Order: sequence, then C-alpha cells, then structure tokens
Amino acid sequence: MTIGLFFGSTTGNTEDIAEQIEEQLAPLACQMHNVADDPVSLMQDYQLFICGIPTWDYGELQADWEDVWEELDALDLSGKYFAVYGCGDQVGYPEWYQDAVGLLHDKLIGLGASPLGYTSTEGYRFEQSKAAIDNKQRFVGLAVDEDNQHDLTDARVSRWCEQVIEEYNATP
Ligand SMILES: Cc1cc2nc3c(=O)[nH]c(=O)nc-3n(C[C@H](O)[C@H](O)[C@H](O)COP(=O)(O)O)c2cc1C
Repeated sequence: MTIGLFFGSTTGNTEDIAEQIEEQLAPLACQMHNVADDPVSLMQDYQLFICGIPTWDYGELQADWEDVWEELDALDLSGKYFAVYGCGDQVGYPEWYQDAVGLLHDKLIGLGASPLGYTSTEGYRFEQSKAAIDNKQRFVGLAVDEDNQHDLTDARVSRWCEQVIEEYNATP
C-alpha cells in the first residue's frame, strides 16, 4: 500500500513534518504531494492519505490550500480514509489555534472520507480551535507547534504515525 501525503507549507514547517512522517511510516511507502504543485484530485488514488496544513492569518487556510479549496469540491472520496496534521502557534494565536486542521477535516468528511488519528489536547494551551472537539478534549488530528514545543514534535509525530496505521488496520 502507498499512502498519499498532501501538504501545503509557507515557511517550511509543515513540509519538514511531512518528511518526518514519511520516515516514520517506512517501510510503508509514502508519496509526497505539495498541493502547490500537484493536483488534489490525486487523493482519489489512495485508500489512505494524510494531509498537512498550517493555519495562517488568524484562523485562515494556508495559501496553497486556499488556492485548491474549490477544486476539492469536485472529488468523491467515499470509502477512503484520511488523517490531518497541522502546524500552528498556540502562544501567538491562541484564539485560532490550528483552525485550518478543523476546516480541512470537515471539508474531507463532506467529500465522503472517514477520519483517523484524533489526539488528546493534553499538553497544549489555547483558547479556541476549530480543530478541537469534545469540549476541547481532543483534536481532530495531530497538532504540531514548532514555534513553542519543537522538543515535543518527534515523539508526537512518531506516536501519531503508529496510531494512524493501527486505526487504519482496524478498519473493515
Ligand atoms: C502572520 C502569521 C499568522 C499566523 N496565524 C496563525 C493562526 O491563526 N493560528 C495558528 O495556530 N498559527 C498561526 N500562525 C503560526 C503558523 O501556523 C506556524 O508558524 C506554522 O508552523 C507555519 O507553518 P509553515 O511553515 O508550514 O507555513 C501564524 C503565523 C504567522 C507568521
């Protein structure tokens, strides 16, 4: 099985995490797609795909994701599984922390795909997030904070990769 890894990244953090995820998932094969270069219609080629999206400008989508946002509406992702991770800054933007993760998660569900890889919000401090559910107890994906918690990133990424694969293996 090859896993599609779709990301957009303005200053490189989300791209770096994509490379970490690719390493963690080995020996499973991962195909990288920067959404600035590759069509998002390729999502339809994968049974499982991972999306990486940072939040920018007070709760907005990263620019390359914004550019392809309407193209996503044409996709049929029913029967497919996805997991989302994001990069954000919980100290600088606590009222919009990882909002884009929530927006993309909801968008992909609307296209028929099923989410994997929800995580606990323990260890984070923020006020509001569109990525948080269950009374702010869980994120609908993995929240990476390279601005404030870089030291925690490696462990968070490797644990999440294991979780996503475990959950995928348990799907019907
Ligand atoms: C102008 C600006 C606005 C930002 N807005 C948000 C935001 O609303 N929410 C958030 O969680 N992070 C926000 N961030 C933090 C970025 O998401 C974070 O630095 C991220 O790692 C950038 O990822 P990238 O390098 O892949 O583009 C903002 C950063 C800047 C410089």
